[in-house]
Amino acid sequence: MSKNAFLAKFAHLTRSTVAKGTGQGRAWVHRPIVSAPMNAWSGPKLVAAVANHGGMPMYPIGYFTDPSKILADLQTIPPLLEDSELQKDDPEDPAGTKFLPYGVGFITFWLDRQGPELLLSILKGQGDIPNRRSFARPPAAVWFSFGDYRPYLQLIRDHGAPETRIIVQVQTVQEALDAQRENVDVIVLQGTESGGHGAQRISPLMSLLPETVQALQSQMASAASSSTPLAMPALLAAGGISKNTQLAAVQSLGASGAVVGTGFMVTHESPGPQKAKDRLLQTQDGGVSTVRTRVFDELRSFEWPQAYDGRVIRNLVTEREEQDLREHGLYNPQGEASFKLLREDRAGTKADWDKATREQDFDLLPIWCGTGVGMLKKSVSAGEFMAQLAD
Ligand SMILES: Cc1cc2nc3c(=O)[nH]c(=O)nc-3n(C[C@H](O)[C@H](O)[C@H](O)COP(=O)(O)O)c2cc1C
Repeated sequence: MSKNAFLAKFAHLTRSTVAKGTGQGRAWVHRPIVSAPMNAWSGPKLVAAVANHGGMPMYPIGYFTDPSKILADLQTIPPLLEDSELQKDDPEDPAGTKFLPYGVGFITFWLDRQGPELLLSILKGQGDIPNRRSFARPPAAVWFSFGDYRPYLQLIRDHGAPETRIIVQVQTVQEALDAQRENVDVIVLQGTESGGHGAQRISPLMSLLPETVQALQSQMASAASSSTPLAMPALLAAGGISKNTQLAAVQSLGASGAVVGTGFMVTHESPGPQKAKDRLLQTQDGGVSTVRTRVFDELRSFEWPQAYDGRVIRNLVTEREEQDLREHGLYNPQGEASFKLLREDRAGTKADWDKATREQDFDLLPIWCGTGVGMLKKSVSAGEFMAQLAD
């Protein structure tokens, strides 16, 4: 079994191809890298590429409204996986692989709003190749972020396979302590460096990681002699990690590996728009060129809970937001969002937004990304990026 706590969680996922001279199936997950569940920036191709190169990808469930669309999209993944057994609908070994080598990432508060049907369908393996003659395989892991995941743990224990791994992304030491008490398998510590959404009150990884390690060890020691002893979950660090030296740094602070979002956005397999990828590659000084804001959530009306904001590349909207905040708060005296003030001749916020989307105008639209963006200078394949990061 692997000494790396994260890799050990997935040691049961083996490829049917036998490694030379060992007589053993090769492990699917041999690099401690998780590709983040990035809405609109990850999808079947990136998920398959990360799995094929030994990482653990998270398929982004995102702001779903139609479960059947997600299931249909998931069904396109198995044929892309480099393991002939996984592509068959009647495997030679009926006891063969029980899981697909990826996870599904839920935005928890959104799942609350839509109901658990999609999660239940996924746990039943409905994202596998349709009409398989042997049983349908669920994903190996379920990821929760942004909200109270606890009601879903019982549901997974009741309806999922016992080996289904639970990954929870948290932003504070207290949330990590709670997750340890819930016996989750993997805790992702998300620092302020992260791209995309996170907590408004959030710590840098350099402090969050060692303080959390210390707190988890202490909670485990206190519970050791109780009737409910606690285990040390595998810890992953998320936020601004684009290079192998950073991966080594978070490992020296107590993480088993890293969750990487931004670094995968510029890979060939990411479905993000080329215009936005070009802008990512041109951005330097990542901590300065990006900013945490709620302005885009206000404009998109996704009703993100107040506790969260998100990191984006600075653009006209964030500059204007800062100016408006200084002058009259997020809204002007007539109650109009600052976005509307950008171009005086436009009809209104919604029309502005639709026009910007049609034109892919990233002076106005958000490009969510982390502080590690400044180190990304070239678009490469996901496999090359992972080799640079973890070899
Ligand atoms: C474009 C983008 C979209 C994201 N979407 C999600 C999401 O849907 N669910 C989620 O849990 N995290 C999401 N995240 C945050 C990631 O889980 C992770 O914390 C972050 O990407 C790590 O920081 P990095 O981007 O600097 O590598 C997103 C991040 C980015 C950059």
